[in-house]
Amino acid sequence: MLAIRTEQLTKYYGKARGILDVDLEVRTGEIFGFLGPNGAGKSTTIRLLLDLIRPTSGHAEVLGLDAHRDRLAIDRRVAYLPGDLSLYGDLTGAQTLHYLGNLRGGVDTTYRDELVRRLELDPSSRIRSMSRGNRQKVGLVAAFQGRPELLVLDEPTSGLDPFVQLEFERLADEARREGRTSFISSHMLPEVEHLCDRVGIIREGRLLAVESIATLKERALRRLEIEFASPVPPDAFRDVPGVRDLRVDDARLSCTVMGSLDALVKAAAGFEVRGIRTQDTSLEEIFLAYYGAGPEAPHAAA
Ligand SMILES: Nc1ncnc2c1ncn2[C@@H]1O[C@H](COP(=O)(O)OP(=O)(O)O)[C@@H](O)[C@H]1O
Ligand SMILES: [Mg+2]
Repeated sequence: MLAIRTEQLTKYYGKARGILDVDLEVRTGEIFGFLGPNGAGKSTTIRLLLDLIRPTSGHAEVLGLDAHRDRLAIDRRVAYLPGDLSLYGDLTGAQTLHYLGNLRGGVDTTYRDELVRRLELDPSSRIRSMSRGNRQKVGLVAAFQGRPELLVLDEPTSGLDPFVQLEFERLADEARREGRTSFISSHMLPEVEHLCDRVGIIREGRLLAVESIATLKERALRRLEIEFASPVPPDAFRDVPGVRDLRVDDARLSCTVMGSLDALVKAAAGFEVRGIRTQDTSLEEIFLAYYGAGPEAPHAAA
């Protein structure tokens, strides 16, 4: 069963483009990263999923239910953390969590208290006097406290300090182990790459690609330098799969490798190796290639 499925989902704000023909499938139990630069259409997609706005055309299903017709049933099973979270300034953190928990028909207070403790949130202060980071913690506890089947989190990691970021990753991972699904938007790949199983990349309203993080890593290029004990023949490395930009100067080899290093390492093993240095191209660079290119380019490069 799919946790989220959209079909040709399209939203125009008047004449302005929101999203266009988005076909998205999120599997039950995965952590799915929804990535794109500001204005790409992430929040629009999320608001459509939650029936906060209506599509111009197309269709969305959440937990196998119709996003619009079955909205009430979906609301009980899904937690949503908006990007522009606004809470009542007069309430304390604890009151806010109690109130939001009751909207869900009550929550496991032991688990809620554990979340408050783990995120080091002081629940006694008023929302108004909290820093942005602390308000975001309230939002995170509110989202997780009901152990929802699906978490829809709109840029939850923006502005989190590293400690909270780490704890957030643990929480999402625990939800995954319980078979629950997370849909997490971000405009910063490094903030979600450790967390996600798969990512969808949206740009200018269109879903450009959906890839597993593992696949993206395989496609990553690595700079590699090998130092040998004595000069090596360049021909020994010329036809090694995945090797590009090969240079051999006496006992020093440098090249770029796409994908697995295995073939190159085996070729090098025919000689005495003094040292190997590699430098990974960050996933962020791969993503910038997606962001920067036209919609067809990433597929052509694949
Ligand atoms: N309420 C709105 N009225 C008009 N245009 C909007 C509205 N909300 C979003 N947009 C436009 O839709 C596009 C996608 O915005 P959004 O979904 O907020 O992107 P993201 O969340 O990825 O930053 C942008 O061009 C934005 O200006
Ligand atoms: Mg947004």
